[in-house]
Amino acid sequence: MPFPESFLEELAARNDIVDVVSGYVHLTRRSGSNQFGLCPFHSEKTPSFSVNPERQIYHCFGCGKGGGVINFIMEIENLSYPDAVQFLARRVGLEVPDDGHDENRGRRARMLELNRDAARFFHQQLVAPAGRAGQEYVARRGIVSMVKPFGLGFAPDAWNALTDAMTAKGYSRRELIDAGLARAGKNGGIYDYFRNRLMFPVIDVRGSVIGFSGRILGDGEPKYLNSPDTLVYSKSRSLFALNLAKKSKSGYILLAEGNIDVVSLHQAGFDSAVASLGTSLTADQTRLLARYTNEIVIAYDSDAAGKKAAQRAITLLQPLDMKVRVLQVPGAKDPDEFIQSNGSQAFRELIERSGNQIEYRLEQAASEYDLTTVEGRGGYLKDAAKLIASLPSSIDRELYGMRAAEKAGVSQGAFEGEVARIRKRNASNAHKQQTRDATAPLKAAQPQSRELRYDNVRSAVAEEGVINLLYRFPERFGDLPLSGGDFSSPALGKLFDALTERLRAGRGISLAVLGEAFSPEELSLLANIIAHDEIPPTAAGDAMSDYIRKIQDEKEKAAGQDDLRGYAERLKQKKGYGGKDG
Ligand code: UTP
Ligand code: MN
Repeated sequence: MPFPESFLEELAARNDIVDVVSGYVHLTRRSGSNQFGLCPFHSEKTPSFSVNPERQIYHCFGCGKGGGVINFIMEIENLSYPDAVQFLARRVGLEVPDDGHDENRGRRARMLELNRDAARFFHQQLVAPAGRAGQEYVARRGIVSMVKPFGLGFAPDAWNALTDAMTAKGYSRRELIDAGLARAGKNGGIYDYFRNRLMFPVIDVRGSVIGFSGRILGDGEPKYLNSPDTLVYSKSRSLFALNLAKKSKSGYILLAEGNIDVVSLHQAGFDSAVASLGTSLTADQTRLLARYTNEIVIAYDSDAAGKKAAQRAITLLQPLDMKVRVLQVPGAKDPDEFIQSNGSQAFRELIERSGNQIEYRLEQAASEYDLTTVEGRGGYLKDAAKLIASLPSSIDRELYGMRAAEKAGVSQGAFEGEVARIRKRNASNAHKQQTRDATAPLKAAQPQSRELRYDNVRSAVAEEGVINLLYRFPERFGDLPLSGGDFSSPALGKLFDALTERLRAGRGISLAVLGEAFSPEELSLLANIIAHDEIPPTAAGDAMSDYIRKIQDEKEKAAGQDDLRGYAERLKQKKGYGGKDG
């Protein structure tokens, strides 16, 4: 059931988009009526994410995401429309009118309940006599005291242990399958997905069990089984043990590769360890991290894959302005093994000594060249200068510059000159990019979403122009000699009709109230269109007439082509060519 419009208006009025966005994005630059910051939805170095307080929209000129305040919360908090409304209402202490029973919300709640019951079941199995194999494994790995805080469990070596227990509690087969806990068998039956495994529940920051990882006891393939993504679980947006790590007082988050590493680190007193869930670190996960800390210590495995993953993590974390340190565990394959053989004090020393990311990257760069040769030193110098040029702090640039210059065998002055040259070039590129963004024609590009692709880009540019001016100056253009049917793009036609209808009825056109009638992709497109204000108010009238003429011309052309095509078809049929049975 839709929310009443007056409620949505009120909700949007109280949740100013700049306030809401500022909770997630540092808005650093102002340009016209837009405020800019680094986009939270894609990785970038110069801000192209804009918020417009006047129009109450956000729009990223880089990745194209955009919408109103409700879309923003949907996107960044990973919530459904009704949940985002709920979130914003709670934020300002507004009562949400009873929206009947929202089916998805009910299903989510029920799935979370099932997950919790399953986690309890697994946990009981581990501490029960039947869980001997699991207990022995936990003892062998030295993590017995972590069974409780992590809610570790054991999936019995049977086909229907969990499914029987859960069906007895009233969960349906469908529900078990949807939650990723069971699979459909051949004869209409179902069987346990996790069998004979040590179970790690994945718990989100609100304390809900959202999924599971199951490790085989001992050797064998696959080593880990993970829950599939479900209504309540998205692996790429979750981190294992963040529910515990977020409470840590350590001031940093330790990022490990393996679940066992995380448990072992907590056991050793490093209570801020987390891991990504069987995926390489994603941008969503870095943003999640950024909500809880501004310092990350990467503690990946020592193999080549771990080194590569660390590089990738650094690159992903960089735009979020976080301090990143990379720790290497000498003589061990991973943090767990290191701690098991050297103890936690030794690991603490590793953390304290671990270089920051620049040191690490300089070392990596050095290892790629033979510094005993002139060419090698030249190559190293170029890479090092590029790295150092990207440092925002001049003190850091000087300190690291000194070291790198020495290593490259050049004078400090020469090295600084190189860094300055690169910085100048970067600044000029950034400036060019910004001017390019600001003077782009009213978009001739295709929408982000494939489904909304324009067949006739020329007409679409004019259609976008009409919508832009209509949204910006509704009192002037509320009554145009045009309808959505004249548009070449169905999506733009639909937007145009919705806007004019609402204006004629004297209703509001903010994105908050349009939200329920349009998909997030359509709203993104709308935000993208109205984020532009290249056409000044004084030129709006002329521009509007040009747009309308263009749309009508293109429509006539298309009709003419249709006629021609029809004529050609008829001709073909008459002569008997090209027909299927001709
Ligand atoms: P590791 O093989 O390093 O696992 O994989 P680990 O947790 O350190 O286990 P031990 O120490 O060998 O017992 C790192 C992570 O990659 C994912 C898991 O999340 C694991 O924790 N992974 C690994 C899978 O999802 N599936 C696999 O088959 C293997
Ligand atoms: Mn390991």
